[in-house]
Amino acid sequence: MIKFENVSKQFPFGNKALDGITFNIEKGEFLYLVGPSGAGKTTILKLILKQTNPTNGNITINETPLNFEDNKQTEILRRNIGVVFQDFKILNDKNIFENAALGLKILGISHKKIIKEVNEALKLVGILDKKYMFPAQLSAGELQRTAIARAIVGDRDIILADEPTGNLDPTTSWEIMKIFKKLEKDKTIIFATHNTDIVNSYRKRVITVKGGKMIKDEKKGGYDL
Ligand SMILES: Nc1ncnc2c1ncn2[C@@H]1O[C@H](COP(=O)(O)OP(=O)(O)OP(=O)(O)O)[C@@H](O)[C@H]1O
Ligand SMILES: [Mg+2]
Repeated sequence: MIKFENVSKQFPFGNKALDGITFNIEKGEFLYLVGPSGAGKTTILKLILKQTNPTNGNITINETPLNFEDNKQTEILRRNIGVVFQDFKILNDKNIFENAALGLKILGISHKKIIKEVNEALKLVGILDKKYMFPAQLSAGELQRTAIARAIVGDRDIILADEPTGNLDPTTSWEIMKIFKKLEKDKTIIFATHNTDIVNSYRKRVITVKGGKMIKDEKKGGYDL
């Protein structure tokens, strides 16, 4: 479903962020993307979202090569992908419900459907009772749940999560992980993380990158860098 063929990325004013990355992620797969800081994890996610383009190689999603330049096509691609960003990207002047609904408004979905879907997502992540509160009133774990709710509304097939348990205590991290376990049933998930406990306890496919190179791809791998 998500295919990288010999993908490299050289930023104009930087090191080679990715070097010859090849993998194929099947529909419905849960994949950990691990590696030290600066390894290239976020760059891989940005390439899938077409926020940046590879310098070399090919990326295909659902059999469609991402080598188009058309904005409309990029919008269609992104509609199908929910993203939990490394820095949350929660808007402080909007309440929790509005933050979770952001993606749906852009999609032009009816008001009634937005209310239904967002309430369901907030319930799933366990913060429905906070929906009229503002980000400043929530804990880091609750904001992370808000970011996940926003990523899962809109019935998307792919979820990209960039360090969704970063800066959270172990108990909260496991609570967040439980949400991803629920989602796993019908979504393709890429979970970029430094959290060795989670990767080693909830065993799934692990791709390890280091210095822009893919150094491991294991079916039920662990994380021991
Ligand atoms: N826009 C950019 N311009 C120049 N270099 C960049 C840019 N974005 C990323 N890089 C470089 O690419 C490399 C990979 O960065 P990336 O953000 O993908 O790492 P990461 O694995 O996500 O790290 P972390 O775990 O710290 O989030 C780094 O060396 C980084 O400095
Ligand atoms: Mg990153």
